[in-house]
Amino acid sequence: MSRRKKLYEGKAKILYEGPEPGTIIQYFKDDATAFNAQKKGIIAGKGALNNRISEHIFTHLGWMGIPTHFLKRLNMREQLVKKVEIIPVEVIVRNVAAGSMSKRLGIEEGTVLSRTIVEFCYKSDPLGDPLISEEHAITLGWASQDELAQMTEMSLRINDFLSGLFVGCGMRLIDFKLEFGRWFDGEEEQLILADEISPDTCRLWDLETNEKLDKDRFRRDLGGVEEAYREVARRLGVLPKDSAPKDASAA
Ligand code: TMP
Repeated sequence: MSRRKKLYEGKAKILYEGPEPGTIIQYFKDDATAFNAQKKGIIAGKGALNNRISEHIFTHLGWMGIPTHFLKRLNMREQLVKKVEIIPVEVIVRNVAAGSMSKRLGIEEGTVLSRTIVEFCYKSDPLGDPLISEEHAITLGWASQDELAQMTEMSLRINDFLSGLFVGCGMRLIDFKLEFGRWFDGEEEQLILADEISPDTCRLWDLETNEKLDKDRFRRDLGGVEEAYREVARRLGVLPKDSAPKDASAA
């Protein structure tokens, strides 16, 4: 781990140069931030759990024909992924009003939306990932119209698949965030799903009780944060057998 070249360190992950050209090692940290890193903390064992959860989801998405950056899991905290040029436009998909949408528009959290909403945000830490329109993304050169159309279509397919996957495990998919990248293979260029899908990037509520099983437990100081991440992994059937119990700061 020591002499690998670090390419980038984000709030929840570190990217290292991969063993082959065109590959990257994605390392999942236990660090958690919220409100554009104004709130910082550690969620013990989160890195190992998100690595497994994201692997599980990306593998299934690959099986249903969504192109993704995921190649294979390397160990507890790392996965090998394809190197992409990240599109600086994040896609947020919402099935139920919550979080920033509820706050901005005064819609009560938990209000079921009559249709799924797709939002775009400009990926910029200094600006706090502001909500943008398609026009901004195109005019400012962050993504083409065709790329935005592909991102929207893929995001809605991912939403259909994930909503079913989570309902099957007793959870409601309230909303989630996706990132896409441009993958270059010789002359070819393909838009593929990148980053991660985990309780850091989704809102998941228990189907029966509406208990929050995601990073909102950390954002809102609700307690039981580690337990919630473990519960999502357990329900998906990916709880690492070697992940230590309750007090684990698992390696
Ligand atoms: P929001 O309601 O705060 O805009 O969040 C919408 C969804 O996007 C929610 O599932 C959490 C996820 N998200 C991220 O993955 N990263 C972020 O930086 C933010 C603000 C939200």
